Amino acid sequence: MSKQKVVICQDLKAELQLFLENLDYDKLFVLTDTNTVDKCFPLIKDVPAVKKSGLIVVEATDLHKNLESLSAVWKHLSNEGASRHSLLLNLGGGMVTDMGGFAGATFKRGIRTVNVPTTLMASVDAAVGGKTGINFNGLKNEIGAFYPPLCVFIDCGFLRTLDRNNILSGYAEMIKHGLISSMETYASVMLYDIDTMDYGFLNRLVAQSVAVKEEIVEKDPKEQGIRKALNFGHTIGHAYESLSFKKGCPLLHGHAVAAGIISELFLSHKVCGFPMDKLSQVVYYIKSYYPPFLFDCKDYDILHELMTHDKKNEGGKINFTLLSQIGDVRIDQHVSKEEVTSSFDFYRECFGF
Ligand code: GLY
Repeated sequence: MSKQKVVICQDLKAELQLFLENLDYDKLFVLTDTNTVDKCFPLIKDVPAVKKSGLIVVEATDLHKNLESLSAVWKHLSNEGASRHSLLLNLGGGMVTDMGGFAGATFKRGIRTVNVPTTLMASVDAAVGGKTGINFNGLKNEIGAFYPPLCVFIDCGFLRTLDRNNILSGYAEMIKHGLISSMETYASVMLYDIDTMDYGFLNRLVAQSVAVKEEIVEKDPKEQGIRKALNFGHTIGHAYESLSFKKGCPLLHGHAVAAGIISELFLSHKVCGFPMDKLSQVVYYIKSYYPPFLFDCKDYDILHELMTHDKKNEGGKINFTLLSQIGDVRIDQHVSKEEVTSSFDFYRECFGF
């Protein structure tokens, strides 16, 4: 699998134009969604190469990351004469970069893609690392492929278009990157004040966060081993996310991950000896900014059930990634049902409900 290039942009338009004019392709297509086409496409539409591109707009939100939207993208590419030598530029959040990446992976057995993420979540996670796919049969990312883009252009200018909830959502992945990497990265992530939003500081933290992910993906692009570190917070986080959908009060992915981080740090403490003072520090940080996800003990059975469907499980066992220290990751951990239950209790106690 070829290595993707990641550019942290100073001048997105100039850097994108330079990249495109030095690349050999026959047609360029820009894929975006109904929100991003108004908010973000104007920021690149004057790039000379983009002016000559075909625009594909799909319905926004994860609800539309499905076979129907994917089929519309394939149809557009096919009807407009895209060839194996064409290029697909995915401009948007994780929904667009995931689905566009998969459209690229499958159209004519694979055309090249470029990602221009416009959300914090996509910039530090979804657009980087080559995981692509769609939701299917009621399951998130059930169909997909590892298919890295040629290049990812990250421009923190887009972050100014985001509301607080979307900043919080992406920031949860940055907390995760801090926890799984090093004391230094972790400490800088804990310093950021989401209420005052210093965009210069955020830009530096984004670059640092992307570097953490790149280093891991480069070592293990297809998640055979150390890439599982990136799943920290997500085993329980995904169960919280699915439960929130069932309850009709859907959480943004990163909000569920933040809750999952609290529960999985508790498990890390219990099972791997993760230090209590660091656990308390992370709980304090998350509680300061993130609203609680409300559930009660009547939801525990369904949470356990949801975890048994996690696609990261192996041999019928729920597979956790835990930490014994900041930066000391323990993959393939198995935990008793009682301990998992106590991690739900712990989350609720932290928020006092
Ligand atoms: N979002 C986790 C990964 O890319 O592996």
